[in-house]
Amino acid sequence: MSAGFAGTCLGDLLDDFVQTFTNEAAGAPPWETLARAAQLPPDGVWRVWLLMAGRGAGKTRAGAEWTHARMQAGCKRFALVAPTAADARDVMIEGDSGLLAVADRVGERLLYEPSKRKVTWPNGGMALAFSADEPERLRGPQFEYAWCDEIGSWRYPERAWSNLLFGLRLGVDPRLIATTTPRPTALVRDLVKQPTTILTRGTTYENMANLAPAYRDVVARYEGTRLGRQELMGELLTDTPGALWTYELIERARVKDEDAPEYARVVVAIDPAVSTNEESNETGIIVAGKDHAQHGYVLADRSGRYTPHEWATIALNSFDEFEADAIVIETNQGGDMAVQTIHSVRPGAPVKRVHASRNKITRAEPVSSLYEQNKIHHVGGFPRLEDQLTTYVVGMTSPDRLDALVWAMTDLLVTGKKPIGAFDLGGLIQENEWAAVG
Ligand SMILES: Nc1ncnc2c1ncn2[C@@H]1O[C@H](COP(=O)(O)OP(=O)(O)OP(=O)(O)O)[C@@H](O)[C@H]1O
Ligand SMILES: [Mg+2]
Repeated sequence: MSAGFAGTCLGDLLDDFVQTFTNEAAGAPPWETLARAAQLPPDGVWRVWLLMAGRGAGKTRAGAEWTHARMQAGCKRFALVAPTAADARDVMIEGDSGLLAVADRVGERLLYEPSKRKVTWPNGGMALAFSADEPERLRGPQFEYAWCDEIGSWRYPERAWSNLLFGLRLGVDPRLIATTTPRPTALVRDLVKQPTTILTRGTTYENMANLAPAYRDVVARYEGTRLGRQELMGELLTDTPGALWTYELIERARVKDEDAPEYARVVVAIDPAVSTNEESNETGIIVAGKDHAQHGYVLADRSGRYTPHEWATIALNSFDEFEADAIVIETNQGGDMAVQTIHSVRPGAPVKRVHASRNKITRAEPVSSLYEQNKIHHVGGFPRLEDQLTTYVVGMTSPDRLDALVWAMTDLLVTGKKPIGAFDLGGLIQENEWAAVG
């Protein structure tokens, strides 16, 4: 049973455990001698230390080491904030570079109580873990310091951040470290500009000696690409030249959960991966709705690397959860198989097939035009989908999440064989490009 954040029950208590690491690492070199300069707290006066670096560059390790050092220096109340509750547990606390490992290296025993989402140091100081998915939980508690991991991937960045800052009011010098891959979300861009922020940066290459050899293959896939500049070099890229979407475009039309309207129609769109070996693409699964004013809303991104049975199950669960009207599948590449897969898990599930020819014009342009017209809104943030949207340039192979989004919006907002009347795409859409065949 997962630690969860939902109060204590017997099952959770049974899951609790005490870290009883022995002092195997007595004599381990101090972090100050191992760390690169960008991983050590900057000099000067700052309230936010923003460590923005490439994948595997040592961000989490730096966050955990700073947290541990603050606790050893006598901090009583510390906040840990991760994109999800699972990330807080699996990465910030129990991960290879997390708090328990960092303490273990220097032979220190921490008490971790998952059900209380709490880590306690031998001197009595404690760190409480939070998920940025649940920003309201950050309302109320008070802290001296905080560590926020992967702020570029938070689902509700504004609320989580502002609630955390309101609570950062104990001690004489409340401060926080934010460690992240540099996604240009509004929060990250804003933090970079703040005079109270100090920025340190690093690249994946600088930490290569500490990464598994297999990681080089992962790195090779991104090398020389624009996404590689973000993911490996740790550059904050605000606009991809020629991209159909920009962060401004998405940010401008973003809405909060509580401002979401009633939906006239909801669909779950799937762009199935072509094969399921390790190198295969992800299966894009996007849940979207439209309101009575013909605006589209992205409600969930459930994409990932799945077997056919897994994606069919996830799509059907999403269908139930959002009380959707249909599952939308693109039929160009083995679409009939995809329909059969859905029906093997749930016979008779309402499936609608869309077909788009891949020649002449990109399928994504009409949908990006709807974003430009402020007619498509994201309910909260979808970092990985938004990465794909903002780095996609016409002519590239379109990525899976983007494709699933395009199928969803095509079904919702491009009716029948023509786009809905309110906008004219100047002949960009041809009849057979968007024909719904199911
Ligand atoms: N200065 C260092 N000396 C030795 N090992 C290090 C150093 N910095 C990081 N590491 C190790 O490198 C590995 C990757 O570090 P870490 O998990 O902190 O990277 P990350 O940037 O958070 O990665 P990701 O992008 O996957 O979140 C870990 O095993 C970590 O302990
Ligand atoms: Mg990390």
